[in-house]
Amino acid sequence: MNSDLTHSEFESVCTVIAALTGLHFPQDRWPMLGRNLVSAARDFGYSDSSSFLDWLLANELNKSQVDILVSHLTISETYFWREPQVFNALTGIILPELIESKRNGDKTIRIWSAGCSTGEEPYSLAIALHRTIPDISEWTISILASDINRVALEKAASAVYTPWSFRNCPPWLIQNYFNRLDGSRYELVPEIKEMVTFIKLNLTQINHLAPQRELNDVDILFCRNVLMYFTSDWLEKIVGDFYKCLAPKGWFVVSSCELSSQVFPQFTSVNFPGAVIYSKSDTNCYQSTEFQSFDSPEVVPDFIGKLQEEAAFVSNPFIPKDTAPAVGMVIHDRPVEIVVIPEEGMTSNRQKIADLADNGYLIDALILCDESIAKDKLDSGLYFIRSSILVELEKISEAILALKQAIYLDPGFIMGHFNLGNLLIGQGKTKMAIRYLQNALDLLNACNDDYIAPESEGLASVYLKEIVQANLKSERKK
Ligand SMILES: C[S@@+](CC[C@H](N)C(=O)[O-])C[C@H]1O[C@@H](n2cnc3c(N)ncnc32)[C@H](O)[C@@H]1O
Repeated sequence: MNSDLTHSEFESVCTVIAALTGLHFPQDRWPMLGRNLVSAARDFGYSDSSSFLDWLLANELNKSQVDILVSHLTISETYFWREPQVFNALTGIILPELIESKRNGDKTIRIWSAGCSTGEEPYSLAIALHRTIPDISEWTISILASDINRVALEKAASAVYTPWSFRNCPPWLIQNYFNRLDGSRYELVPEIKEMVTFIKLNLTQINHLAPQRELNDVDILFCRNVLMYFTSDWLEKIVGDFYKCLAPKGWFVVSSCELSSQVFPQFTSVNFPGAVIYSKSDTNCYQSTEFQSFDSPEVVPDFIGKLQEEAAFVSNPFIPKDTAPAVGMVIHDRPVEIVVIPEEGMTSNRQKIADLADNGYLIDALILCDESIAKDKLDSGLYFIRSSILVELEKISEAILALKQAIYLDPGFIMGHFNLGNLLIGQGKTKMAIRYLQNALDLLNACNDDYIAPESEGLASVYLKEIVQANLKSERKK
């Protein structure tokens, strides 16, 4: 089934979708919308998309039908400790200050992750709190996590993840907070899992739930990589609702590419090292050189540009780990759990390399990888793995070389082109980055949407394509 919608059919369906869900699809996202409508048509029991479209345009959908439709139209891409600078600001500055201000009061902290997808964000928040509050058992912590996508919420509630969810997180996070299950699946420890409550909520319907205690006096509200999909009318309404839900000194966090003084005029931007976070109160602003509130319009564009660069680089699955603790961070980790690596013969060398790297034994992983390459010099996947380890070791030039070797051996290696493009973004080599990202896109365009490219950790090509396109778009703007 393919969508083949005409221009006017796209316009009509976009109008219906915007009215029903608030989601906004500009013309450059229509190809993606077409594919999503095909998968929605299947879910609604239609074998061809044109009869589905006729039905969609002619009927009023009930609430659960709207939810099903939205689950096909949204992107659930997420990972742990996304944009580490935000978590550093949180654990190093915002939470310690919040704890201090509440220590002699009701010792209650309310957090809301709106658009939480499969749970990596709210669980990262729970981990941030666990790391920062030494006497956490004496506090009442509420972490509410909401999303419209039921399937994503079910995965979130299971709290079992594959390495793809840890692609940009510091090694301590997986070592201290996860137990390894079979294969490459990791389960969050119960004490963190229990801190988060998941609910299904369409952000266009916040007022239906607003009387709930958890949605009032919220101290920190995360809504990242969600608002960019709404029409401006809905955006204004949702941001207004968020403002009401926040406590007087509450913090509002969006992703670095969503920062905008036009969209969030009621908030004050506060500048933390490498991150900008909105505050409901103008007295939350830090006036030192390091943590300046910026209201000078000339400063904002450059700063946002820098953040967008960082955001583009952050989307590199193998970005160097940010392990430097933030200012004032309180660390009280559990002892590191050593994962038992299966015996010789039980698993392939590749699995052993991955196990060693996942557990922080990077040099050992590199040695084993090099030994494996020496035995099979034509295995492009091994060069790819080598580059990932080198990135973790912050040896970026060598990592780039390893990826070039992988691509030389296998010019159709999608993840090789993708990672190389992203590493080159980080090196400021825009032209070359565009070349490799474009190669990845061309290769992806030749694949089916549900094709899983080797080394992509199970990410369907349709979603990988979205990431490549977003990175290309931000590079071409430079
Ligand atoms: C790209 S994910 C972002 C996940 C996480 N916040 C992060 O930044 O890593 C976007 C999420 O927003 C959710 N979403 C989209 N529209 C929504 C709506 N109207 N109401 C609630 N959630 C919505 C999607 O289901 C998806 O899980």
